[in-house]
Amino acid sequence: MIIAMDGPAGAGKSTVARRVAEELGLAFLDTGAMYRAVTLQVLEQGVHPSDGPGCARIAEELELGFDEGGHILIEGKPGEPDIRSRTVTLNVSAVSAHPGVREAIVTQQRRIASALAGVVAEGRDTTTVVFPDADHKFFLDATCEERARRRALQESAPERYEVILADIIRRDRLDTTRAHSPLTRAPDAQLIDADGKGVEDVVREILAHVGRPS
Ligand code: DC
Repeated sequence: MIIAMDGPAGAGKSTVARRVAEELGLAFLDTGAMYRAVTLQVLEQGVHPSDGPGCARIAEELELGFDEGGHILIEGKPGEPDIRSRTVTLNVSAVSAHPGVREAIVTQQRRIASALAGVVAEGRDTTTVVFPDADHKFFLDATCEERARRRALQESAPERYEVILADIIRRDRLDTTRAHSPLTRAPDAQLIDADGKGVEDVVREILAHVGRPS
């Protein structure tokens, strides 16, 4: 069973996907964490994020996996919280735009999923490129303002709202206009509008579509 969930940064995909996986007893595949892990390694090795072949080489060589709680392991070691740093966040769009990086990571994502009974995969392109034949596809959307408001709340930093909003708008532009696997809604993905809804409301909506109302 594969459930794939796409959507823009900050719409609550990770939290929702993690909860859906929990409810259904499936593994959670956080694909954004994988691109963040590559970016972290790129920065640590002093490779420039615009160096496509350099970034691709790192993506090909890096051994990525997940622990039982769905948290990323880089070469067997926990990647949290380093993969969430602001430097990684600012550079991940550039690194993940390289076709060589995407090919290497998509291969790893399919390998990880094929070793499991079922997954909830979350991230851009999971419904279009990685798992086009997924059993269920969802596109979780929310306005830029709502997403910035949530991030600011999450970080307990309401004063950073404007900075966060600017980051989100910038990342959306990069993610939707890139040549390779841009962020788009698959025509057969169910649109879920997360504006003004709590996590549990969205989870219930998704479980109802999957056929197991909570
Ligand atoms: O969901 P996130 O914020 O952790 O994702 C980090 C970045 O990785 C995001 O800016 C776009 C990129 N990404 C991607 O290109 N493809 C994916 N499947 C997941 C994330």
